[in-house]
Amino acid sequence: MTKKIRIAIQKSGRLNEDSLQILKDCGVSIDNGRDQLKANAANFPLEVFYLRNGDIPQYLRDGVVDIAIIGENVLIEKGDDIAIAQKLGFSKCRVSLAVPKGTKYDSVKDFEGKKIATSYPNTVLGYLSQFNVKADLHIINGSVEIAPNIGLADAICDIVSSGSTLFKNGLKEVEVMLKSEAVLAVSSKIDTERQEILDKLLFRIQSVLKGRD
Ligand code: PRP
Ligand code: MG
Repeated sequence: MTKKIRIAIQKSGRLNEDSLQILKDCGVSIDNGRDQLKANAANFPLEVFYLRNGDIPQYLRDGVVDIAIIGENVLIEKGDDIAIAQKLGFSKCRVSLAVPKGTKYDSVKDFEGKKIATSYPNTVLGYLSQFNVKADLHIINGSVEIAPNIGLADAICDIVSSGSTLFKNGLKEVEVMLKSEAVLAVSSKIDTERQEILDKLLFRIQSVLKGRD
């Protein structure tokens, strides 16, 4: 039996739908039992693993999956040692620092000694250390923007897309730390047979992206 390439995609969340859509546009149809954590493509040597975002970099590193569709921001947060084969042009966002609307803000130095709630500790620490700023991080996994309102933090660092979550929570974006989009990431442990399948898939993805321009 010939091998299949193993791709990780986000189980639920903002990347899930667009990730399945790009595979579909590539002519790869996946019978998608929503509750399944694993599914096969009907007409391409590929199997899909539906995983939690934050776990995907480790699966790539371990070679448990060969490729993944993931936000560049997650790769950066979890270690930037994983290769990107292709930027995919969707799920564009920023990773930013934000403070309550009424807070006076001059520069990144204003974060000195402040409490920042975030799901992106490495990204924040890396950014602040460039300016020799030390802050106190409060690490949470979601609903980060609520933190200043409930007295948990002075500021937040999170993904900003439309900006509506910041707006609804009375926050203003003051520093854009990085810009991100969905990418196709590749395990360094991919074998030659699966690399050939990847090359075919990449060819299709690139044609799809050209058509979307
Ligand atoms: C994400 C992210 C921001 C928001 C940004 O949260 O953590 O809060 O989307 O998008 P916007 O700028 O378009 O409002 P999500 O809704 O995925 O929930 P979570 O933080 O609880 O995981
Ligand atoms: Mg959120």
